[in-house]
Amino acid sequence: MSTLSTARTTAQWQAADAAHFLHPFTDFQSLARKGSRIVTRADNIYLWDSDGHKILDAMSGLWCVNVGYGQRALIDAATKQLTELPFYNAFFQTATPPAIELAELLAEVSPPQFQHVFFSGSGSEGNDTVVRMVRRYWDILGQPGRQVIISRVNAYHGSTMAGASLGGMSGMHAQGGLPIPGIVHIEQPHWWQHGRTQGLDREAFGLQAARWLEDKILEVGPDKVAAFIGEPVQGAGGVIVPPASYWPEVQRICDKYGILLVSDEVICGFGRTGRWFGCETMGFRPDLMTFAKGVSSGYVPLGGVMVGDRVAKVLVERGGEFAHGYTYSGHPVACAVAVANIRLIREQGLVERVRDDVGPYLAEQFRDLAAHPLVGEAQTCGLMGALQLVRDKATGAAFAEAIEFGMVCRGHCFREGLIMRAVGDRMIIAPPLVITRAQIDEMVALIRRCLDLALADARREGWLG
Ligand SMILES: Cc1ncc(COP(=O)(O)O)c(C=O)c1O
Repeated sequence: MSTLSTARTTAQWQAADAAHFLHPFTDFQSLARKGSRIVTRADNIYLWDSDGHKILDAMSGLWCVNVGYGQRALIDAATKQLTELPFYNAFFQTATPPAIELAELLAEVSPPQFQHVFFSGSGSEGNDTVVRMVRRYWDILGQPGRQVIISRVNAYHGSTMAGASLGGMSGMHAQGGLPIPGIVHIEQPHWWQHGRTQGLDREAFGLQAARWLEDKILEVGPDKVAAFIGEPVQGAGGVIVPPASYWPEVQRICDKYGILLVSDEVICGFGRTGRWFGCETMGFRPDLMTFAKGVSSGYVPLGGVMVGDRVAKVLVERGGEFAHGYTYSGHPVACAVAVANIRLIREQGLVERVRDDVGPYLAEQFRDLAAHPLVGEAQTCGLMGALQLVRDKATGAAFAEAIEFGMVCRGHCFREGLIMRAVGDRMIIAPPLVITRAQIDEMVALIRRCLDLALADARREGWLG
């Protein structure tokens, strides 16, 4: 008999986990040998594991717990909604109050062109909706030949067939015959990788990277291109903050060819960059915005697409039935939690706090970390940050790939009680927006300690060359 209990030992949890639970993005066999870390509770920005270790969660769960753990308002909203009406759908000419209220609230906090929303259960599903909606839009306008969506190498847009296809992760494309037809990719605006090596300054490189979009449009044929999609700041790809010149130039190019511009705000939305949405920080005006994660601070699954006036007008006034939707589109419990979450973000002024206080403070601390011998480049945007680890600070030379040096550093973080993620040799963070200056100091001290431990490994093993 299986009962939900926290009374098992760590070894018992690990054995049951290894026997039955296939984890996302995981080498099953290797994890089964090692054993999972079992996380049992959380409060504010901290987690505790089944052995009682306290961990500072500098990744907000998975970029989602923006308001931190244990927020009573969200818990109460879920409890109340579960009691009153745990589920009803939005298919049969019906709606529930939380879904309506959330739609209204999202229109308030989004840039003014967004007055409509389509709900999904996750960011991946949101991007599936984007593909369906973008193609439907051009169909209705009598241009069915506009099918192609341009995305970027090393983008992350989710793990469904459409999400993984829009994404530009070669490891994902290698499994399952992806991308699906009609999705093409251009290079990412990654100055460290592409601009620095050409000797370009950041802003000149930003313009060059944007013009790769124009090259691709001309290669595909402007009358075949439906949309361009990008994350304002690439998250899972390694917190790659584009040069300030990049997005305005992308906007200009999309306008020039009449192409829809889609901002994937799954990570950047809801205050992460110091504005409600990343497109506001980066200075562009999308036609569609995918969201998830921070909309409900991850307390319950929810995602969707904000639909700008240009697209909404066509879908609503000329479209007839849009043959698309999910059982959980507008799930009342998820929407009730999201309403409570957005109200809390507003009441506590979390977005402004990121913009004016903790964001700039984190940037200062990262400027100090940039002096560490292992750090080639330190970048932040609001409350996201990345440290590019290098073998040779003077030349920016990387460690040999086989060393997997990022994972070495991450191993130290894991042992020292800090959740920090490694993307190749880029160490990244995205802590909850409620983090205080004192907690940033604590986090940065842990990061520094882990960098020192990794440097000691590199010296001992002779990896510095
Ligand atoms: C930018 C972006 N889009 C989409 C997704 C997919 O969201 P989900 O995992 O909720 O399907 C993610 C997940 O990390 C993401 O970072």
